[in-house]
Amino acid sequence: MYQLSPSMLSADFNRLGEQLKTIEESGVKWLHIDVMDGDFVPSISFGMPVITSIRKESGLFFDVHLMVSNPDRYIEDFAKAGADLITVHAEACRHLEGCISQIHKAGCKAGVALNPATPLCQLDYVLHKVDMVLLMTVNPGFGGQSYIEKSTDKIKDLKAMIDERGLETYIQVDGGINQKTIDRVLEAGANIIVAGSAVFGGDIKANIAGFQDAFARHQ
Ligand code: DX5
Ligand code: ZN
Repeated sequence: MYQLSPSMLSADFNRLGEQLKTIEESGVKWLHIDVMDGDFVPSISFGMPVITSIRKESGLFFDVHLMVSNPDRYIEDFAKAGADLITVHAEACRHLEGCISQIHKAGCKAGVALNPATPLCQLDYVLHKVDMVLLMTVNPGFGGQSYIEKSTDKIKDLKAMIDERGLETYIQVDGGINQKTIDRVLEAGANIIVAGSAVFGGDIKANIAGFQDAFARHQ
């Protein structure tokens, strides 16, 4: 099962509702929502009120990526705002195991994100508890950056780790995924594909069709 999770960060906020409708009409099921706090990452994006507002009109699965320091402070708030899945960064949590439990208790699926330089061994004692691992394929903070090549090995290693343990954990990749890089991440084992500029830049429907074709090539 492959899912495209378009990153709302690259949408035109003046036409947000319309663009979310377009992606839903194109058969997309997930929406990647990047929350940035200006501390864990340099930039600031948006928070709960925006999510609450789009939740009213959208049937998409809200995949909320918290690029926030000490995210345990906000889990219940994001769950209430309408998140279906909440991903926290291993680097941002003082008590990662506890934070994963908190996300599940709030009624959401839980993801753990790793920055490009963070080793997979961070997952050793929590992997069995998480629904998804998000591998950052750029340094977090901004859309439109280039894919870090070394990520391909990391995806393969994570896939092997998940298979060895008999788990079904989703592997999400985020950053620099476009028509040039999609095949190598799918081949390596990623199944949840975040794309911002490659979805919202230009013709949204045609861009989505390009990703759907790539998924079909890898069935
Ligand atoms: C980066 C964000 C990404 C970003 C991806 O910090 O987590 O989700 O929006 O954008 P593209 O696909 O343009 O690299
Ligand atoms: Zn993201």
